[in-house]
Amino acid sequence: MRSISAFAPGRVNLIGEHTDYNAGLSLPFALPLGTSVTLTERADDRVLVSSREAGAWSGTLADIEAGGVAGGVAGWAGYVAGVLWALGSAGHRIPGCEIELASTVPLGAGLSSSASLECAVATAVAGLLGLPLDDPGRRALAAACTRAETEYVGAPTGGLDQLAAMLGAEGEAVLIDFADHSAHRVPLHLAEAGLAILVTDTGVRHELAAGGGYADRRAECEAAAQALGIASLREAAAADVTRLAASPGGSVTTRRARHVVTENERVLAAVAATGAGDWAGLGRLLTASHASLRDDFEVTVPALDLAAATAEAHGALGARMTGGGFGGSTIALLPLDRADAVREAIDGAFAGAGLPRPAHHLVEPSGGARLG
Ligand code: GLA
Repeated sequence: MRSISAFAPGRVNLIGEHTDYNAGLSLPFALPLGTSVTLTERADDRVLVSSREAGAWSGTLADIEAGGVAGGVAGWAGYVAGVLWALGSAGHRIPGCEIELASTVPLGAGLSSSASLECAVATAVAGLLGLPLDDPGRRALAAACTRAETEYVGAPTGGLDQLAAMLGAEGEAVLIDFADHSAHRVPLHLAEAGLAILVTDTGVRHELAAGGGYADRRAECEAAAQALGIASLREAAAADVTRLAASPGGSVTTRRARHVVTENERVLAAVAATGAGDWAGLGRLLTASHASLRDDFEVTVPALDLAAATAEAHGALGARMTGGGFGGSTIALLPLDRADAVREAIDGAFAGAGLPRPAHHLVEPSGGARLG
């Protein structure tokens, strides 16, 4: 029986947060952290999944077909089963298999552990079935992984994480336009500029499932677009944000829309700053994004605010929360020689605030999902 190994990364989003489900712009890059999988074909219809971190699940292909939001496959195994389900419903013949997983992406840290898991499994299945891993092939796999998450697991996320894991490449961020899902590579050679991104996992855990704050924000954005009579907030301009203030419930929708409109502008400005080597300018945009997510979108928590502010006070060019928020991680753009000082300052600030010691990762844009 054939055995295939694959890896898919977690991601940070450099900028462009809560824009994907508003048909907006994001600029993520792939992390060196990720999920490794070995998938071995079986002659029968059983699926055995084991994760070094999360335990084991076993069932049949029929159980997977019947599972999902309405059925029996719950928890982390739902992400794996959901990928097999989505690829099966895209017309691929999925065999019974054994799937062994190991991940270095912390769970619930805003670094897309679930997309990393989904994309690793999808890439391994693609390897087994001989599906192409060129650009269209990768997009098709990302779409299947997004369906696994939104339709099978029931987390109403927007597709950013899966595209980042499938399209990421070493030394590059990816500019994704969710209006048409087009993607452009943005070279980001931080080390050559003497810079790096420090990821700080605050240890405060988030939850993206239905019924949580993430789903509320999505609904608020839809309400804002509806009040404006447009299909999505991508079509909104600054004048529309002012108009919203007069509508019923206007104060919340105004702030949510203002975040989305200004964040899309910041993504384009960040691409320009990166191209021009204007690192101080990029840093200011990261900081402005954080302020907007804190004050207008209201998805930060005190630990995220503290980590970002402390990084800036100790030499980072800019810092912001990354991912869905309500916990998770910050990123700080900093000169490499400030990394230790910033790390220590954040640890000290967390200790002073009675928070557990956070985990740090110094990262650079790394390779996307791959076989082997
Ligand atoms: C989570 C979701 C993404 C995206 C971000 C916020 O990571 O999975 O789809 O919405 O939050 O930018």
